[in-house]
Amino acid sequence: MYQCHLCGKKLVSIISLGQQPLANRLLNSPDQIDDIWYDATWSWCDDCKLLMLVDPPSPDIVFESNYPYLTGQSKFMNEHFEKTAHTLYHQYNLDSAKVIEIGCNDGGLETLIKDHHDVLGFEPASACCPILEAKGIPHRRMKFDARSARETAEAWGKANLVYCANTLRSLKDLRGFFMAVLEMLYDDGVFVIEDPYIVDIVNRNEFDQFYSEYVYGFTITSMQNIARMFGMEVIDIDPLPDNHGGSLRWHMARVGKRPISTNVEALKVANSEFALKDKLNRFQQMIDDISTMFVDELVHLRDTDKKVVGYGATAKSVTLLNYANIDSELLPVIYDTTPTKVGKYLPGVHVPIRDAKEFSDVPKGCIVILFPYNLKREIFDREKGRRWLLYFPSVHYEESDAA
Ligand code: TMP
Repeated sequence: MYQCHLCGKKLVSIISLGQQPLANRLLNSPDQIDDIWYDATWSWCDDCKLLMLVDPPSPDIVFESNYPYLTGQSKFMNEHFEKTAHTLYHQYNLDSAKVIEIGCNDGGLETLIKDHHDVLGFEPASACCPILEAKGIPHRRMKFDARSARETAEAWGKANLVYCANTLRSLKDLRGFFMAVLEMLYDDGVFVIEDPYIVDIVNRNEFDQFYSEYVYGFTITSMQNIARMFGMEVIDIDPLPDNHGGSLRWHMARVGKRPISTNVEALKVANSEFALKDKLNRFQQMIDDISTMFVDELVHLRDTDKKVVGYGATAKSVTLLNYANIDSELLPVIYDTTPTKVGKYLPGVHVPIRDAKEFSDVPKGCIVILFPYNLKREIFDREKGRRWLLYFPSVHYEESDAA
């Protein structure tokens, strides 16, 4: 029986995706052995209203030196950071403010704001660091913890804004992380967090979001509970329905330092958070139904001599392919634009990743599985005249407009 990482209450397992490899630990050859697997079981804490991976792999292994994910591959995400910079700048009057981003990846946000603010990124994944250096973005190549926060607060100073996107959900040690943030933040500073919203994920059936970096599935209520534990409160929320399959932007400040927007309670009610647990109880059946339908469709395509390829070697794809046991026999190749992924193989299923530049050689009659469904609009705009296989909210086909 596992206990809640935060409050210690006993947990009951709610979703299991079996044994899974680390989603971003790509292999160099098809014969390489996947040496690290973890038990992909998530449980629900009814006190914290928080979904959690009960026994997550260590972040030191998950974000080790060959971590391949680069945010800047997506035009949508670059535009998102541009809007975010604009929104936060005006909302908090950030003229000449000091801004920290934790888990800054290849520096999408910093590129936009480094001329107006004193910025500093924290990024432990070393594949990102040459990119940050080339862009001239001040950064520290290390994970953010109490020690690095204290050192930074002394040497660089405190921050008016601490921002992290798609990072908090990956860190089991929320206590250590929040203590470190408080160390860095001015008394009236703001801590802004973007992460997938578990209510969106469940409503859209997106179970492949549960990969090795998905330690926590946050609700609004859970963020309020977490904030309270550290003398903070959620002061505002922005829905980001198109980010990573449905996300929220939570704004936090120390208790009493900033007014609380009516958005916070209104969104909780509008999203029926109270109904989440019942939906989660039915989620495993849905996972099994979609996986079975997806495999059946691929088997049918193979048996009718239809050529199938994948597009976008996402971390998410690793969850689905491993759970449904789909290897290179049913899916011979996935195309991707990311230089740090091309030439590698997906963990577990060993499907090769090829350069998306070669995708134009794939005949138009071929079926293309769209793994980054969250970037559908951007990819459909670029890759016109194709027939795509998608699997959420259920297995179906879509056409991108004619070329
Ligand atoms: P994400 O859904 O986790 O952001 O991952 C998107 C993946 O898709 C990433 O590996 C980059 C890849 N990609 C392409 O291959 N072509 C594209 O046009 C875009 C936008 C992304």
